[in-house]
Amino acid sequence: MKFFKWLRLFNSVQWKMVLIYISLLLIAIQLIGVYFFQELEDFYVGDLEVRLKRQADLLISPGGMAKELAKPQLNSAEKRKRLNKLLQNIYILDKGSGQIVQLLDQDGVVLSTTAENKSKIGQKNPRVTSVLRGVNTNDTQFRRGPNNQPLILYSKAITENDQVIGAIYIEAPMKKTYDTIRTINNKLLQISLFSLVGTAILGIILARTITNPVKEITEQASEMALGDFHRKVAVKSNDEIGQLAAAFNHLAQHLREALSQNEEEKGKLESVLTNMNDGVIATDDRGCVIVINQRAGNILGRTIAKGDPITQALPLSEPLPFPLVEERQAYLELNREDEDEPTVVKITFTPIRRSEETVGLITVLQDVTEENKLDRQRKEFVANVSHELRTPLTTIKSYLEALDEGGAMEDPELAKRFLRVTRQESERMTRLIHDLLQLSRLDAQKVRFNRQPVAIEEILSDAVERFSISAEQKNIDISFRFNDHLPKIYGDRDQLDQVLDNLISNAVKYTPEERSITVSARRRSDGFVVVAVSDRGIGIPQKDLALIFERFYRVDKARSRNMGGTGLGLAIAREIIEAHGGSIDIDSRYGWGTTVHFTLPPYVPEVIR
Ligand SMILES: Nc1ncnc2c1ncn2[C@@H]1O[C@H](COP(=O)(O)OP(=O)(O)O)[C@@H](O)[C@H]1O
Ligand SMILES: [Mg+2]
Repeated sequence: MKFFKWLRLFNSVQWKMVLIYISLLLIAIQLIGVYFFQELEDFYVGDLEVRLKRQADLLISPGGMAKELAKPQLNSAEKRKRLNKLLQNIYILDKGSGQIVQLLDQDGVVLSTTAENKSKIGQKNPRVTSVLRGVNTNDTQFRRGPNNQPLILYSKAITENDQVIGAIYIEAPMKKTYDTIRTINNKLLQISLFSLVGTAILGIILARTITNPVKEITEQASEMALGDFHRKVAVKSNDEIGQLAAAFNHLAQHLREALSQNEEEKGKLESVLTNMNDGVIATDDRGCVIVINQRAGNILGRTIAKGDPITQALPLSEPLPFPLVEERQAYLELNREDEDEPTVVKITFTPIRRSEETVGLITVLQDVTEENKLDRQRKEFVANVSHELRTPLTTIKSYLEALDEGGAMEDPELAKRFLRVTRQESERMTRLIHDLLQLSRLDAQKVRFNRQPVAIEEILSDAVERFSISAEQKNIDISFRFNDHLPKIYGDRDQLDQVLDNLISNAVKYTPEERSITVSARRRSDGFVVVAVSDRGIGIPQKDLALIFERFYRVDKARSRNMGGTGLGLAIAREIIEAHGGSIDIDSRYGWGTTVHFTLPPYVPEVIR
């Protein structure tokens, strides 16, 4: 384990750089060292050689050894003695250097030597053969002496009139030279070591200046990966590393901005989805829910979690094919506990396509219960209108036919009756059409209300007045009651008259003879005026009450029609009162009587408003 840890350490850029530096330096030192050593050796050895040569030249110089050696008249013993003396005298140089000088005759026999040990005299020195033979005038050799000491052996021929007459041989120890070279080399080694250590330290420092910011950037990148974009890398220099750090900070900032923008967009999308009136469910290509808004759950009346298959969420009658290729629609009827009518949901499936491939599904859920209801009501209304118009028309037609073909004309009494019926029916049609027009104008908000401050008690007393005759005919007593200090209301007198006519006529119509009707008005605590038309008539069954304001709704169609009603009176009254900002409702007990209340807002003078 420890080994791997070490290996990892060396795997870092820092160490790689240090290693490279050291290796480079080592190679350089090696190259320089080898070359330098060679040069140094050459120089010192060469220098030694030159010195030996000079010495030899000095010894051989005219008037010296050569002259003495050339004297033919001397016998060899004499000559040897004189040469020896000469050599000793001349050779005072370098006494302690360990050099040995030998003088040899032309046969290579040692004539004289500076060595303590004179045993070599008279012996042949084989190392001077090459100069004696005249191959070279001088010769340098190297060898190891006793104690393995390095030695330089120099020999030079002594000539007289181009004749080799002897040789001089110098043997010098090279220890000192090599010592010098070694000392210098040691110095070099020391310097190299120092520079290696220095380089390593420098390398570490240099590598750190590179790796530290890189490390910091790496750390920062890891933080960014975890979602923290707020830390910044310190830019310490203007070099490539500094530029990298700056570029990285820039990148981080851009990413941060892009991300926050993204978040914002996501938030917007989310709030759009949340506040949408339609339910939205998005699924992936396998039909698993990935996005769902709250409305979808509300419409379906169940909780759907992300990941649920959509087919499970929507109880469709027909299975949904996957993948879906084109848009399709379906309707779902849901029976909810809290509502008596089934909720009708319109579902639109739209495939999400990316380059010819379906990658998901967007499902939009719309609660169309209300639309459906309105549609149904519209159809019912049209059917009702047709029916209401056809009934009097059929009556008129049959009566006219009877007059024309049935010979009813013959009987004036019958003819008169028939004509009266046709007139009544056509009048009813006119009323019906008038009411329908009024309603459609109210629906289209085409009625221009001419609102003015009016005293409600005046409107009420006038209306009561209008019905006094018809009420009297049925022996019905209409009483009118109101509080003092009723505020003026702000309304269109003609329209309000119509409302009251409808209500009082109903009361008169549906109240048997000798009963009473009361019309009253009072001020409610919030300033509104409450008008009530109350009768002691036949009343309305409980089950019909909720629908009584619907168009054409009548408790007893035949009775209403007989009484000339259209079934639109209460509907018109409600439209008018609501257009005035008031409300209308009905209270009734079957067989006991009925009370219709409506409210009207008080008039508030302009100054106050
Ligand atoms: N005062 C009332 N007493 C009993 N039933 C009433 C009264 N007012 C209205 N109704 C019932 O409400 C129905 C709708 O009234 P309305 O819209 O005025 O139509 P119409 O009077 O033409 O029949 C009537 O057909 C009747 O059945
Ligand atoms: Mg009516």
